[in-house]
Amino acid sequence: MGNSSNDPLFAASPWWRSNRGAHLNIQGGRPLVGTYSVSGAKNAVLPLMISALLTPNLVTLHNVPAILDVAVLSTLLERLGVNISWSDGPNGLSLTMCADRVHPMQLDRTLVTRMRASILLLGVVLARCGEATLPMPGGDDIGLRGIDFHVAGLRAMGATVDLAGGVIHATAPNGLRGADIRLPFPSVGATQNLLLAAVLAKGTTVIRNAAREPENTDLAHCLIMMGAKITGAGSDVLTIQGDNPLTGAVHTVMPDRIELGTIACAAAATDGEIFLRHGRMDLLGTAAPVLISAGVVLQEAAGGVIARRSSSGIVGTDVVTSPYPGFATDLQSPAMALFAIASGASTITETIFEQRFRHVDELRKMGASITVQGRMAWVRGVHRLIGAQVTATDVRAAAALVLAALAADGETVLEGLDHLDRGYDRMAEKLLACGAEMTRSDR
Ligand code: UD1
Repeated sequence: MGNSSNDPLFAASPWWRSNRGAHLNIQGGRPLVGTYSVSGAKNAVLPLMISALLTPNLVTLHNVPAILDVAVLSTLLERLGVNISWSDGPNGLSLTMCADRVHPMQLDRTLVTRMRASILLLGVVLARCGEATLPMPGGDDIGLRGIDFHVAGLRAMGATVDLAGGVIHATAPNGLRGADIRLPFPSVGATQNLLLAAVLAKGTTVIRNAAREPENTDLAHCLIMMGAKITGAGSDVLTIQGDNPLTGAVHTVMPDRIELGTIACAAAATDGEIFLRHGRMDLLGTAAPVLISAGVVLQEAAGGVIARRSSSGIVGTDVVTSPYPGFATDLQSPAMALFAIASGASTITETIFEQRFRHVDELRKMGASITVQGRMAWVRGVHRLIGAQVTATDVRAAAALVLAALAADGETVLEGLDHLDRGYDRMAEKLLACGAEMTRSDR
């Protein structure tokens, strides 16, 4: 990946303004103190944007995070015929989408492979147009990330799906029909894909063993506002009565629980205190008690959450990632950066993605003591981390390295900033306001 600040695709975006420079130079060891505004959730906004393809009427989203994945997806949606307008106000970015015409064209591979969420275009374009052609999607390099549940679900709804030459071609000339689908695993993406497709299918679809992540509930609420008939939002059984007339919707994207958890860890790691405005503790699921037991004080306050280090310090803790409400895989790498400076040992078991320990080598360069065997990592806390030259390999690894650098002695130079920009809305700018010392540069 290159440097997003030099990418002409995004340079044209009115809001893509502050993420300049390919390197982030971070001087560590300063306590973070102040207010940090949690942005709209990356994992919610992408499916919400795609939901605009369901209706010819206007869909407006508020609290849209200014992240690279939103820029990529808006370009993909425009290529499919969606008209998009942006505005920037006191409550962040808003975007209004009009999909009164949708062309089921094959999308540009270089764009589709930049983002795993592009697979969500498959069900909705198929349901709307009767056919869809999509290069195999990309995203973080963190494991197999199959699409078999997506394909099996669409086939159960009457689609013909061919996979050849790295391209997915799906047809349903007479439309999709409702089906009773049990997911082999509560996949977040497959639940979203099938939910979106089911809204336009004829008859009733039941999705069993559905993912219960709050971002899926946020999507269901937006679809219900558009006129979709959905019951069971937030549970593991979703029932969708399809083919209802849809209006438009105006929806505010939920706050990002991963950003909340990550910055709370940063407050504790630097022995500071941060008010996480718009943060909602209830969204953290069982990650909240785990972080608290590791020494991250989380205190609900009016309009947000206060985070700081407990008086007993950071202590080694055992974590197993699992589907919501379990400990989110997206918080695994930031938690590891925190545990790297805990007193005592921690274990982290990654059950969602098999290759999600690629940040370990980078943390080791900073002096962390971590051993990995298969899906399990052992972290022996060290007294301090030391700044180093490190490279982010995925979006959550990027955040973990920023966290480690903030807590470390000396300077860290972080490369691979496209990964940070993919998922975090002006993180460096917001951390600067909390007393961090960091600059983006091209050197
Ligand atoms: C996953 C995470 C989500 C996180 C996101 C981005 C879970 C359950 N999902 O969502 O919290 O925000 O990554 O990091 O924590 N799988 C298949 N076949 C499929 C679909 C999925 O085998 O058709 C497997 C995947 O390889 C993976 C697991 O199921 O091992 C979960 O995948 P899924 O939830 O679909 O991934 P994302 O939607 O990307």
